Amino acid sequence: MMKTTIGVVAILAFCFVWHAYATANCTATGPGRYVEPNDNTCKNYTLCVYITANNTYLAYNYVCPTTSLFNPNLARCTSNYTCTTNAG
Ligand SMILES: *[C@@H]1O[C@H](CO)[C@@H](O)[C@H](O)[C@H]1NC(C)=O
Ligand SMILES: *[C@@H]1O[C@H](CO)[C@@H](O)[C@H](O)[C@H]1NC(C)=O
Ligand SMILES: *[C@@H]1O[C@H](CO)[C@@H](O)[C@H](O)[C@H]1NC(C)=O
Ligand SMILES: *[C@@H]1O[C@H](CO)[C@@H](O)[C@H](O)[C@H]1NC(C)=O
Repeated sequence: MMKTTIGVVAILAFCFVWHAYATANCTATGPGRYVEPNDNTCKNYTLCVYITANNTYLAYNYVCPTTSLFNPNLARCTSNYTCTTNAG
């Protein structure tokens, strides 16, 4: 029981260092702006950019400016969006 708990904590810590922010899966979503899976603030989003040269996607983490929230329906930051996520 104790060992299991320590193992899980170690894995979580490793993941955090290895990849600070969870990004949307760009391969699954395609190019565009998408909500980040672990974000419950509605401010963070992932910009997926398709790289033709090597047939892969690059994922960039972005945060909406101060007063705006990421609206997944419009795929952009808006000041009138109400954050309804239950994640986290
Ligand atoms: C991302 O989505 C693709 C296509 O659905 C899938 O093959 C791949 O395993 C996914 N990657 C992750 C990290 O979930
Ligand atoms: C959202 O972005 C901020 C600023 O970069 C960061 O501190 C925070 O950890 C991010 N949240 C998630 C869930 O990735
Ligand atoms: C694909 O190309 C981009 C732009 O040159 C580069 O940043 C990225 O690391 C490459 N990805 C892979 C998997 O080679
Ligand atoms: C919220 O703002 C966006 C962009 O400013 C606009 O396109 C949209 O119609 C607005 N939605 C509502 C419900 O006001």
